[in-house]
Amino acid sequence: MAERAAAHVRLVVGQAVEERGVAHVALSGGTTPGRTYELLGAEPAELAGMEVWFADERCVPPEDPESNYRLARETLLEPAAIAAESVHRMEGELGPQEGAARYAAEISRHLPNAPDGAPVFDLVVLGIGPDGHVASLFPGAATLDAGGDAICLGVSDSPKPPPQRLTLSLAVLEAARGCLLLATGAGKADAVDGMLGEADRHIPASLLRRERLTVILDDEAAPSGP
Ligand code: 6PG
Repeated sequence: MAERAAAHVRLVVGQAVEERGVAHVALSGGTTPGRTYELLGAEPAELAGMEVWFADERCVPPEDPESNYRLARETLLEPAAIAAESVHRMEGELGPQEGAARYAAEISRHLPNAPDGAPVFDLVVLGIGPDGHVASLFPGAATLDAGGDAICLGVSDSPKPPPQRLTLSLAVLEAARGCLLLATGAGKADAVDGMLGEADRHIPASLLRRERLTVILDDEAAPSGP
């Protein structure tokens, strides 16, 4: 899975840089993408022109073991020596509201906008929770109703600890040129199955723009049955 995922990221980065001179890529945390990030970090030349962003972050300091930034720093940013000015960290330590406001402003400063005004990422790398959440957009959460002009949102009641987080909005995920969703293990098979069904706000992954979604799984995470 990680090899295929890394190849996909390299392809998208190369195409974006060729077409627009830059590739804005947002990363998720958790346990799934680490190996993919390590593979990417091992071939830095393939990532030239990439600007690193985050899909979500826990409200902890950047050196905290729970930090998604720390995961990226250890597996990708340092090994690939990605320039600090090309890394746009979510300042989770500022708390949900302040951190979300500052990140939305940072995104607005750097990203082009879609016709509807939403900032456009070239790629958002996502995992999926067993409950079908992506980034820190959880089943039935108010964040899913944040509206088209929401860019980055604060979360204070995450069912996945820690409770306080920052997350890109659904509108931003929908505006992205592509989302890459990674899943491994039998524990994700039901969520993946739900993602591929009808759009359902209790399965946030099912709300992603299907035609711009690439899903890379291992066999255990693949839905059983037809
Ligand atoms: C986070 C992640 C989150 C993650 C899923 C899957 O901050 O927790 O961004 O959205 O992608 O919860 O987590 P695992 O990869 O650990 O299964």
